Amino acid sequence: MEGIRTVTRLSVNLNKVALIRNARGENLPDLVQVAKDCEAFGAEGITVHPRPDERHVRFADLAALKDVVTTEFNIEGNPTRGFLDEVLRCQPHQCTLVPDAPAALTSDGGWDTLVHAGFLKEVTAELQAKGIRVSLFIDPDPSQVEGAMQAGADRVELYTGNYAREYDSDPEGAIRGHVACAAEAARLGIGLNAGHDLNLFNLRYYCNAIPNLAEVSIGHALICDALYYGLANTVRMYRRLLLD
Ligand code: PXP
Repeated sequence: MEGIRTVTRLSVNLNKVALIRNARGENLPDLVQVAKDCEAFGAEGITVHPRPDERHVRFADLAALKDVVTTEFNIEGNPTRGFLDEVLRCQPHQCTLVPDAPAALTSDGGWDTLVHAGFLKEVTAELQAKGIRVSLFIDPDPSQVEGAMQAGADRVELYTGNYAREYDSDPEGAIRGHVACAAEAARLGIGLNAGHDLNLFNLRYYCNAIPNLAEVSIGHALICDALYYGLANTVRMYRRLLLD
């Protein structure tokens, strides 16, 4: 796709930080302080994904994070009634709806926006009525972008797990569906996010191929990199890949 490249924002997913905190039952590391520090180091958003078992971020963390995040606060998750009530109470800037099973290790695929059209439309309207931007997590298939638009979503988040797995052996094949979705999103006027398994090696190629990419949310690899490079350096390293 031709055109001027959007500046892609980096939203740091703090689930792994919460996982370490929860391992000892106290408040170390302090999630709120880490959120503030990520922003100070250059992150343009903070993402959390509270799961039903609260093994990472807990619903009780949301209000404190909302109070300190000065960039963009994104809450992801499966829109059960309980999840939606928490999100509506917290009023983040964005809510990303993800169809992950309660026991899933991590999200491993997007919505079928055509099959779940009625439900997604209802939930999207409910969140938007509170001023919350809605993004639907989808697999990189242009028909799913169209379905998301029909559901009234503001954005889609493309699942990049398979891209990341295939990138080493076949980068062109790995990116193909994402490029098609980006073109479809531009045509339909719907915003585009991406996330899952993005890292220091596969991120630049992805962003260069997707000029209208508004935001990436990155957690696992970024926190692992921070063990070696430190959090400040790591956030800057990821941002540099997005800016170049
Ligand atoms: N996007 C969604 C919808 C996710 O569920 C996750 C993982 O919580 C991510 C992005 C970030 O993935 P990763 O931790 O692999 O960077």
